[in-house]
Amino acid sequence: MVSSNRDQFTSKIGFILAAAGSAIGLGAIWKFPYTVGTNGGSVFILLFILCTLLIGLPILMSEFLIGRRSQADAVSAFKKEAPGKPWFLAGWLGVIVSALILSFYGVVGGWILSYLFRAVTFQLNGGSEEHYGELFSSLIANPWEVIFAQAMFMFITIFIVQSGIKGGIERAGKWMMPALFIFFILLAIRSLTLDGAMEGVKFMFVPDWSYLNMETLLNALGLAFFSLSVGVGAMITYASYLPKTETITSSAFNVAWMNIAISILAGLVIFPAVFALGYSPAQGPGLVFIILPAVFEQIPMGSVLIIIFFILLLFATLTSSISLLEITVSVFVKDNYEKRRSRAWIVGLVIFLAGIPSALSFGVWSNIFIMDKSIFDFIDYITANVGMPIGALAFSLFVAYYYKTNVTKAELNLPNAGYWLWRTIVCVIAPIAIITISLYNLFA
Ligand code: PHE
Repeated sequence: MVSSNRDQFTSKIGFILAAAGSAIGLGAIWKFPYTVGTNGGSVFILLFILCTLLIGLPILMSEFLIGRRSQADAVSAFKKEAPGKPWFLAGWLGVIVSALILSFYGVVGGWILSYLFRAVTFQLNGGSEEHYGELFSSLIANPWEVIFAQAMFMFITIFIVQSGIKGGIERAGKWMMPALFIFFILLAIRSLTLDGAMEGVKFMFVPDWSYLNMETLLNALGLAFFSLSVGVGAMITYASYLPKTETITSSAFNVAWMNIAISILAGLVIFPAVFALGYSPAQGPGLVFIILPAVFEQIPMGSVLIIIFFILLLFATLTSSISLLEITVSVFVKDNYEKRRSRAWIVGLVIFLAGIPSALSFGVWSNIFIMDKSIFDFIDYITANVGMPIGALAFSLFVAYYYKTNVTKAELNLPNAGYWLWRTIVCVIAPIAIITISLYNLFA
């Protein structure tokens, strides 16, 4: 996709790669393992899969539908489709929430760059188990390094979005993503053959029902939205570049199953090793950064392979961060294509600055709490567990009650039973589920 004017994806595969690139990123590889760890394992995984398929996927289809019909950015889409009505506010909410997500996404992207640097300079091998924990703690507590790395990551993201090389990046996804997949399979095999690995498998698949509660459910729903890039208009934006002829239903299914598959694989790399090597599963955002080098330590040529791995991880993270930036940039650019460059730099700079408090919240600002959460955790929580559910609710209600049945039927091109299932979910089940889960957590 060329981004210097309102171009279109020329092929279906181009669109799927862009949408899957947006979805598969830190959500599946970093956030999934650590939230599974802090939410007790198996039951959370089950709820995450159910939320992805029953709520996330139908709403993803709705976002695709809105984007492709309107051929416009997340705010203009609603102005075009529902002139004079307040629905466009849902688009603005998406802009704000996606900018907030990118503010801390950039911090974690920075950690990946720092780890890549350490991998290239062979500092990520030969350590004891404690060594990797200490390495992560010392990195996140070092304000200059984290901010510098965050700045570099944001610089790369902005550079890609403003320069029109996004298409190239997405096409590279054609082999980068499968390569990441293969890496994960190999790592999972190593992790699963460590002594004591079965404990980790049990943690992931043998249900401990004591964790079945509304809080776990909200966390699973939030992660499903975050992981599928649903609820902020990212998929509206991408589908707006999709020609009318392409089918959106199969694209949505592909994105959903690939995302679940990568998440489970990431879990199968992390948890067997967590238990086999004696770490705690509930250590939060550092989990993946601590465990991965420890797993690479256990494989031949690990110190070289980990370099390739972090390059692939960086790549997967960038295909998500560019979609996050694209939402806001496309809203501010509208039809002013010559403004694209300057707007991308300005928006990106503001988001970078907004992310600095999150970057510092593991070190010098670790004593600041908002609603009992660090700044980083707070932004993560309100975006995934409040902002995205509200956005997703608005998008599903819009499609359900604003578009006529014959319109959505023609757009989705599903067999009758499939269509009515989708319609019942977006009209009734998803809204009720989102409202109940959110209100319960607000007041209970
Ligand atoms: N889905 C992305 C990830 O898992 C994050 C994202 C959220 C991207 C919302 C775009 C919009 O990393």
